[in-house]
Amino acid sequence: MASYKVRDNIYSVGAVDWGVRNFHGYEVPRGTTYNAYLIIDEKITLIDTVKAPFNDELIANISEIVDPRKIDYIISNHTEPDHSGTLPYLSEFIPNAKIYCTAAANKELKAIYAQDFNTVVVKPGETLNTGKYTFRFVPMPMVHWPDSMSTYLEEEKILFSNDALGQHIASEEKYDDELGRELFFERSGDYYANIVLPFGKQVTKLLADISALDINLVCPAHGVMLRGYIGEAVQKYSDWATDVTDDKSAVVIYDTMWGATAKHAKKIADRWRAEGLKVEEISLKDKHHSYAIAKLLDAKYIAVGSSTLNRNMLPSVAAFLTYMKGLRPQKRVGLAFGIYGWSGEAPDQIEAIFNELNFEILPKEKFNWNS
Ligand code: FEO
Repeated sequence: MASYKVRDNIYSVGAVDWGVRNFHGYEVPRGTTYNAYLIIDEKITLIDTVKAPFNDELIANISEIVDPRKIDYIISNHTEPDHSGTLPYLSEFIPNAKIYCTAAANKELKAIYAQDFNTVVVKPGETLNTGKYTFRFVPMPMVHWPDSMSTYLEEEKILFSNDALGQHIASEEKYDDELGRELFFERSGDYYANIVLPFGKQVTKLLADISALDINLVCPAHGVMLRGYIGEAVQKYSDWATDVTDDKSAVVIYDTMWGATAKHAKKIADRWRAEGLKVEEISLKDKHHSYAIAKLLDAKYIAVGSSTLNRNMLPSVAAFLTYMKGLRPQKRVGLAFGIYGWSGEAPDQIEAIFNELNFEILPKEKFNWNS
């Protein structure tokens, strides 16, 4: 992509990754972006960088606006390599540029890249003045790494929110209201479910921290910028962080060997529909576990089914449940099911994981063949 002027003196200079479909195990069907922002003032500031293979794109985009060697400050909001991947190169290219980051990020950068950086460690609420602009640092530990931080540009009322409020989508559109509400919140929810879900308490703290800020634009590190749906997105984050779900929404997630467990999945789904629920049936043969977890985000009811194979659940179901256990959804109602030939351990194993997550448990549905 080329650089994009967000406002006078403020540019988006990151990279668009149209082709990526697997993001560290998370399926991203519409690609993603690695957003970086350049702010021109008496001192020139770059906020975040890009994944290493996109280094040339970042440098080319910056060069459309200013000689990259003139950058004075880099604000590194997060050290995960999709945002810090270019820092080793930039540290050689512009060694005098100071890198502003949290104490945790300072430690992480050294560990990830096995080198020292020209860092300045910042504390919550500290500011950086670049001339007419003031950047206020708002650390957000565990949203979603220990080092994570957002940065507020006071004079422009812009929150550079890094991973928070991001979405994995590559698009020609630059803003939430250009994508449209349905697609924007579909990608936002998918992102939250797969990346942010275990950190509800930390998200709630971040929302409290930014509630005092007057924000008219959110510039995240992935996806489009938020200007039209900021209030709704904050409300969604608040709901997702506290496991508010839709009492009328359910998912039935399963895999099957010879079709009997699939047939039973349909029976459960149809029964729930007859009871007034909106139900999505998800076969793990057809859909990735990251799709299934995104559909669980708003659903109160979750049925998980598996045939029994060699005294275990099927590997696809085990993968989904391992993933779900790590993401720790709460306050759900779970139903384990499965059709078996002779031993039938799978539904018990599924229910054990529901118990670990403190789900309310519905009676297990475990049958021998068609009985
Ligand atoms: Fe987009 Fe946590 O990196």
